[in-house]
Amino acid sequence: MTRKQRTPRWLEAARLRGAGTPEGERADWLSRALGRAGVMPRAEAERAILEGRVELNGHITREPFAPVGPDARVRVDGEPQRLQAPTRAVMLHKPGGLVVHGSDPEGVGTVFEHLTARLSPALRGFEWLAVGRLDRDTTGLLLFTNDERLVRHATAPQTHLPKRYVARVAGRPGDAAMGRLRDGVVLDDGLTRPAQARLREPDVVELVLTEGRHHQVKRMLAAVGHPVVSLHREAVGDVVLDVAEGAWRALREDEVAQGLRFAAAP
Ligand code: URA
Repeated sequence: MTRKQRTPRWLEAARLRGAGTPEGERADWLSRALGRAGVMPRAEAERAILEGRVELNGHITREPFAPVGPDARVRVDGEPQRLQAPTRAVMLHKPGGLVVHGSDPEGVGTVFEHLTARLSPALRGFEWLAVGRLDRDTTGLLLFTNDERLVRHATAPQTHLPKRYVARVAGRPGDAAMGRLRDGVVLDDGLTRPAQARLREPDVVELVLTEGRHHQVKRMLAAVGHPVVSLHREAVGDVVLDVAEGAWRALREDEVAQGLRFAAAP
């Protein structure tokens, strides 16, 4: 599915002001840059800026969308802050019931609330972005990062990062159904890529997909006549879930670089 490209909010704001805009891939707006660098999460940064606690290049700014480049000088409450931050990532063992949305109109609880309430103080200043989605009832490995480039990389259709799911299904899939899962299933958004599929138990299917379409596992299994009863994600790339349900841990640099095949530019 193609996503409509939106003009970034900092760019819209800068255009409205007639201000110059920073150049380059890491160009950003102030509140988001503070969240990415781990100074404070974006909503908190917006409040601090509006309260006049943030200086940009020697002047107080009350503009959360003020454009910033990599060389911007920023102080918060008089303290100099670095806007450069390495790519960070954490894994969460998502429990069932939480939604992977920023907003939560039904009040069921979000993975963001769950994670930020448990993070160590050193990681609480970051704005955490979910790397892809899991349905509300799906459990298992959900990754978060401060770096939107890692989100784009890991979710881009052309990256083909394998994702391993285990689904308990209705009925007992036979050879024909398993073969169809492997070869490709026609869904309403087209044929799925070849996948690895095997039975772990008569009604438990392990499926490794290299694309990430909306509700893909549930749609594929429904299409071969075995609707999903419960779904769990075990691995993304070579990163395997290894914490208890509800718990999190930080990923090591090599897990991000090799496990997720992400070579971040500085
Ligand atoms: N496929 C689904 O159908 N649901 C998920 O949560 C993840 C993959």
